[in-house]
Amino acid sequence: DERQQQLIEKINSLRKKKNAIILAHYYQRGEIQDIADVVGDSLELARRAQETDADIIVFAGVKFMAETAKILNPDKKVLHPNPESGCPMADMATVEGVLNLKKQHPDAIVVSYINTNADVKTVSDVIVTSRNAVKVVKKLDAKKIIFVPDQFLGSYIAKQVPEKEFILWKGFCPPHFNLTPDQLLALKEKYPDAKIAVHPECNTETVKIADFVGSTSQIIEYATTCESKNVIIGTEVGLKHWLEKINPEKNYIFPVNADYCGTVHCCDMKKNTLDKIADVLENETNEIVLPDDIIQKARKPLDLMLSIV
Ligand code: 13P
Ligand code: SF4
Repeated sequence: DERQQQLIEKINSLRKKKNAIILAHYYQRGEIQDIADVVGDSLELARRAQETDADIIVFAGVKFMAETAKILNPDKKVLHPNPESGCPMADMATVEGVLNLKKQHPDAIVVSYINTNADVKTVSDVIVTSRNAVKVVKKLDAKKIIFVPDQFLGSYIAKQVPEKEFILWKGFCPPHFNLTPDQLLALKEKYPDAKIAVHPECNTETVKIADFVGSTSQIIEYATTCESKNVIIGTEVGLKHWLEKINPEKNYIFPVNADYCGTVHCCDMKKNTLDKIADVLENETNEIVLPDDIIQKARKPLDLMLSIV
């Protein structure tokens, strides 16, 4: 509509004037994906944040993602459209708890999912994303791994790397956890030829029935190129917008219903809006500010990940 068009024009002129870049995760609202300079999964967004020569990064994602961009770019201004957009799973892990586990298992190293707050990254040895986790963990010398905070991604990795021992933090992603195998199997009954692709944040029972398991970008690649026209997708519903945009020939089936019950829907990801993006660009508010020592300590495990893959 006309108001949205005006907002987009405002965002475009501000980002040009201020040499700003807008990074957005695939779970963002469709209208944000449409105006972003880069849309990506956690790994791609971290890399793009590291490579950019923009002066301002507007991060349309949840807080740990904007923090990661700041840690990789301490001299840049990183703006978060809505500071209330956090990740409930990241909030499940604490520094104290991780230090306790380290004490109990002095021979283990701490592998943290990128979905952790900056303080937890400072007590981690290496960071992983769902895309590179198996690769990174295989390359580590340590035989014993403390994995924080996603128990389901952790047990998925543990199955792929049976030679190592895993101690799992008991965190989980509420939207992915709630997706049951039955919901996907009911869709499969309707579309018997369909392939099922899910995110490894889903619970183990759901992962078990999938034809493909991968990060958001890996699901995109699989769904848009696999032989079957119908693909049932077990991840956040924001991905539908992107899939339909890049390959509208296929039929992407998400477990959706009107009141979001039964849908993989991350309320936190949806807290960013075009209005808020225009607002932070104009007023340079909601800047991510982290103490220097946190930035330095949290950067080490991130750099290690980026040097491995
Ligand atoms: P990826 O984009 O790395 O697959 O992560 C999914 C997610 O839950 C982000 O919060
Ligand atoms: Fe966190 Fe899950 Fe939302 Fe990703 S989808 S931000 S892991 S709650």
